[in-house]
Amino acid sequence: MDMPQRKHQQGLVYKESMEMSHILILGGDGYLGWPTAMHFSNLGYDVTVVDNYFRRHACTELDVGMLYPVPSLIERAKLWHSLTGKQIKVVIGDLTDAHVMRSLFDSRIQYSWAQNKRFTGLPETVVHYAEQPSAPYSLINYKYANITLTNNLQVTNNLIFAVRDFSPDTHIIKLGTMGEYGTPNIDIEEGWIEIEHNGRKDNFLFPRQASSLYHTTKIMDTDLMWFGVRMWNLRVTDLMQGPVYGIDTEATAINEKLRTIFNYDEILGTILNRFIVQAVVDYPLTVYGKGGQTRGYLNINDTLQCVHMSELKPARQGELRIFNQITETFSANELAEKVQKVGRSMGYSVQIDHLKNPRKEAEEHYYNPKYQGLVDIGVKPHYLTDGVIEGMFRVVGCFKKNIRRDVIFRGINW
Ligand SMILES: NC(=O)c1ccc[n+]([C@@H]2O[C@H](COP(=O)([O-])OP(=O)(O)OC[C@H]3O[C@@H](n4cnc5c(N)ncnc54)[C@H](O)[C@@H]3O)[C@@H](O)[C@H]2O)c1
Repeated sequence: MDMPQRKHQQGLVYKESMEMSHILILGGDGYLGWPTAMHFSNLGYDVTVVDNYFRRHACTELDVGMLYPVPSLIERAKLWHSLTGKQIKVVIGDLTDAHVMRSLFDSRIQYSWAQNKRFTGLPETVVHYAEQPSAPYSLINYKYANITLTNNLQVTNNLIFAVRDFSPDTHIIKLGTMGEYGTPNIDIEEGWIEIEHNGRKDNFLFPRQASSLYHTTKIMDTDLMWFGVRMWNLRVTDLMQGPVYGIDTEATAINEKLRTIFNYDEILGTILNRFIVQAVVDYPLTVYGKGGQTRGYLNINDTLQCVHMSELKPARQGELRIFNQITETFSANELAEKVQKVGRSMGYSVQIDHLKNPRKEAEEHYYNPKYQGLVDIGVKPHYLTDGVIEGMFRVVGCFKKNIRRDVIFRGINW
């Protein structure tokens, strides 16, 4: 099946029409994948999600609690259909299996897993979220390190070969992380840096130095993508995303059962989400070491916006386009203080604890990343206001009885 035509205008590539655009979301059951699926479905895209429940299995295996129970991906897609009349197609499959990945792009294969649905045609865009996303998980021990390395790299490698072999015009939107850069003592550019050496200049990927094996796989992903772009002219947008916070997106207003997976433990919960849960059950906020660790943060609604704008204005063939996907930076101390201030105004007695740092990381450092590219293509940032934090407190407060204090901090060291 043909894909909608793209046109070039003012240095960017725009699509002629998004009518019947087919978007494939790898990792569609996840914290970001499911809201992304609903977002595009709501806009009238033809959406297919793929997942093997890796994250749910990890939650069970590691015995970490979710804030609330989340229906299976198939149940959620049925609920979405019954509430909106729109269809999100579901494929349950492991994307480290090259056959599964290739089936998604090979229109000759009549693929009929899950719900006996058939494919709509080649995806114009694929959003690649399907990875093991946790630094502590990757460093529990050698077993989890191996799972992280094989899972993440194999999925990415399967993806670039499938696109090369069956659908070379498909735009790959890949989720990278700001953690790829580490905390260098110079300004962080958006992916690329011009280097002058012995009187000659060239452009290179910005130096990367990860502080976990998970982040190392993201660096390797970027290198695999860059290889595919150079060798086979693939079109790739790599989004260097900072830690995401938030629960609700516009689709949650339709029905609370559509809420995304939300973890609050040290392994799978991101820092602000964790802090709010800790505050609600009067568990002192776990700041590691001095708390000067500074990172770029992002509201979950802005993940959706950033992916959507990248989809509307895709990378060119033969381009690896990199955006730093953050909207503001905070130190761990600043985040803890914000949560404390809002929590106390709502009647919670929020304490802050400085634990011996279980991680190997700089606790005080220079941090100055650039993050203009996504704004330039139309993203309008949501900032971390007291109102946003209060809204999260209200949702988390509703599930207070589900919160398990024993899973909040286990002290995974590296
Ligand atoms: N959440 C954040 O703060 C954040 C920050 C920076 C980057 N990222 C990146 O964004 C992406 C999505 O993150 P998330 O927080 O939604 O994580 P998540 O674990 O909730 O989502 C990933 C999904 O991919 C699925 N998956 C993993 N391996 C798979 C495989 N082999 N086959 C099929 N499905 C598989 C998982 O089951 C899960 O549902 C990840 O690549 C992560 O590295 C996330």
